[in-house]
Amino acid sequence: MQEEIISLKNEALAQIMEAKTDEELENLRISYLGRNGKLTELIKNIKNIEPEKRGQVGTSINEAKNTLLTSLAERKNKISVSAKVWFDSTIPGIKPEIGHLHLITQAIEEISKVFSHLGFSRVRYPEVDWDWFAFTALNFPPNHPARDDWETFFIDVPESPQYGKMLLTPHTSNGQVREMQRIKTPPIRMINITKCYRRQIDISHTPIFHQFEGLVIDKNISVVNLKGTIDYFAKTFFGPERVTRLRPYHFQFTEPSFEVDISCGVCNGRGCRLCKAGWLELGGAGMVHPNVLKSSKINPDKYSGFAFGWGVERTYMMKAGISIPDLRMLYSTDLRYLRQF
Ligand code: PHE
Repeated sequence: MQEEIISLKNEALAQIMEAKTDEELENLRISYLGRNGKLTELIKNIKNIEPEKRGQVGTSINEAKNTLLTSLAERKNKISVSAKVWFDSTIPGIKPEIGHLHLITQAIEEISKVFSHLGFSRVRYPEVDWDWFAFTALNFPPNHPARDDWETFFIDVPESPQYGKMLLTPHTSNGQVREMQRIKTPPIRMINITKCYRRQIDISHTPIFHQFEGLVIDKNISVVNLKGTIDYFAKTFFGPERVTRLRPYHFQFTEPSFEVDISCGVCNGRGCRLCKAGWLELGGAGMVHPNVLKSSKINPDKYSGFAFGWGVERTYMMKAGISIPDLRMLYSTDLRYLRQF
C-alpha cells in the first residue's frame, strides 16, 4: 500500500512538472484528486485496510495529497508568471512618437529671430487691455468711425475712469503705447508678438489670431529706415529674390500710412493666378503719428519713428507657399491635420 501511494505521488508530480497550461493542470488535478481521482480512490479504500495499519496509510495519503496540491499551485503560478513577463529582447522597440511645435509657434520663433538680428527686442503686451491703449492713445477719438474696422470684443466689466472700456486687443498696436511708456527715452526697437481677437469667423478669419508689431523710435527716423527694415525682413524671411513696395493707405496712428506688398514668389512679380498683378499684400505700416508720440509722452519735435503690424498666420502661409483652405483648422486639435506641418 505504501509503495502504491509513493509511486502514484511520483507519477503525478512528474506530470505536473511537465504541464504547460492551466487546462492541463486542472485535468491532472481531476485525475488524481477529483471525485473519482486515483488518490481519492485510495482514500475510499482505507476502510478495507487492517485497522492497525489504517493510521499510517491515512497519514501517507494525506501527505501525498498535500504535496500534490502544493506542486499544482506552484506550477500554476510559474505558468502564469512566465506567460506575463515573457520578453523577447530581439524584437525591435516601439519608437516613442516625437511631437513638434505648432505651426504658429514655429512662425513666431522664426519671425522674432529675423528681427533680433536687427536689434529688435521681443516683447509681449496684454491681450486684455483698455480702450485707451488700443484706440484713444493711437489717435482714434472716442466714437470715431475708423474704430469700426477693428471688429472689437469688449469685456463686460465697469469702465476705467482713466482708460475707458476693457477689451480683447484687436491688434498689437496697443504694444506701441505700452512700450513707449515703459522705455520713456528712445531709442526703441521692439517686436511685439501676441494674440489678437476680432469678431470675424469664416474660412479665412479666426476670432483669435496673431500679429507681430514692429516699432522703432529714435532721432531722425524716416521712411527710408522703414523701407530698409521691411526689405531686410522680406529677403531674410521669404528669400533674397523678393522685393517689397509701399502703397499709400490710411491708419489713424501713422502718417503717412502704407500697405506693404511683396513680390509674388510663384511668378517673381510677373503676374500669375495667385497674385494677379505680381504683388501680394503683407500688411500695414507707417510713420508713427505725432499724436501717438504725444500720448505716450515722447516729444515729437525731437523723435520720430515707424511701425508695422502684420498677421503671423498670413505671413507664414505666404512663406511656406502653403494654402490652408480653412484657417480655422489651425486652431483645431486634430493631430492628423497639425502633424503635417
Ligand atoms: N494695427 C494695424 C492693423 O491691425 C496694422 C498696423 C500696425 C498699421 C502698425 C500701421 C502701423 O491692421
